[in-house]
Amino acid sequence: MKKLKIVLLYNNRHSYPDPNDYRNQLEADFDDPETTEWQIRYLKRSGFEVIPIEANENAYLRLYRLRKKIDLVFNVSEGIYGLDREAQLPAMLEMLQIPYLGSRPLTQAIILDKAKTKEVLSFHGIPNLPFQVLRRSDEIIDTRLKFPLIVKPVAQGSSAGVTNESVVFSVEQLRHQAKKIIETFFQQPVIIEPFLSGREFSVPMMGNPPRILPIIEPNHKLLPKNYLPLDSLEVKWHFEEKAGSESYLQCPARLSRKLERKIKEICLQTWKALEIRDWCRIDIRCDREENPYVLEVNSPPGIIPPEVSRSSYFPLSARAAKISYQQLLEDLVKIALERYRKNYL
Ligand SMILES: Nc1ncnc2c1ncn2[C@@H]1O[C@H](COP(=O)(O)OP(=O)(O)OP(=O)(O)O)[C@@H](O)[C@H]1O
Ligand SMILES: [Mg+2]
Repeated sequence: MKKLKIVLLYNNRHSYPDPNDYRNQLEADFDDPETTEWQIRYLKRSGFEVIPIEANENAYLRLYRLRKKIDLVFNVSEGIYGLDREAQLPAMLEMLQIPYLGSRPLTQAIILDKAKTKEVLSFHGIPNLPFQVLRRSDEIIDTRLKFPLIVKPVAQGSSAGVTNESVVFSVEQLRHQAKKIIETFFQQPVIIEPFLSGREFSVPMMGNPPRILPIIEPNHKLLPKNYLPLDSLEVKWHFEEKAGSESYLQCPARLSRKLERKIKEICLQTWKALEIRDWCRIDIRCDREENPYVLEVNSPPGIIPPEVSRSSYFPLSARAAKISYQQLLEDLVKIALERYRKNYL
């Protein structure tokens, strides 16, 4: 049988995320070259012919030349430049009529923007937190938002720009943090919203219709005292990578029937409202009464191979479901190809 030709579309970072250097965090969403090398190796082991393409300015030319030969693009790229960057590569692939893994450009662009995502969720009555977007740090703050608040760049991932300093308790702190993010992230607006200190969950989903994989709960109670209870950049990229952190990520999360049902229902509604395809990971946080709210959606979610990290959420959850990394990649290829075969766009 002819080997399937798979393009692995990726972005690589040039340095490891540093909580003290916000500019460096702009590449936090990109993968280490080591991750890409392992992904290529795994896809080859599955019997695919693999063509790696970095999702930079030259990607279009390479995809254009190969367009008649590619069976599927395995897209784990983020795109480069601007607030719509996660839509860039899917848009090129649509134009070139090359099948790819993941959601279409509209969904990708909305999901990267945490505020627009919430606007869509609210229209569909899906629980999420009130918020305000600030383009300048001296804008009037909506007094309906009660401290403590969290300040986040509106369109980043992997906790870029989200550190211990992001939780603010006064207007002065808020303006200071907003100014820092807007200036270092090239005028990117910030989103501010109430900081919830209840339980947090991350929910990986895949398939059309989606299957919900085992839910992950970062147990903030296990964090050292100098960390606030959130998955900040420090926690995600430094604490979670350390030995012993596996118990920090509880998977499957221990949930009452009622809470599990609520979370699953919210995630399925979110998938539908945003017209997600193939896979994603939804982040949820609860208030003290265990009412869940959608924080944001990740698409594509990170899938770092176990050789590089044991704490990458999607593969960690897959392992809990007895799906190996190899199998996970193969399943994702199948899910995307099947979607095209069924003409379900
Ligand atoms: N409103 C909130 N209340 C409490 N904690 C929050 C809130 N918003 C974000 N957080 C914390 O900050 C972390 C990072 O925030 P968020 O998930 O919005 O950013 P991200 O960088 O897009 O994350 P990802 O790594 O999933 O791409 C969350 O996992 C959560 O721990
Ligand atoms: Mg998140």
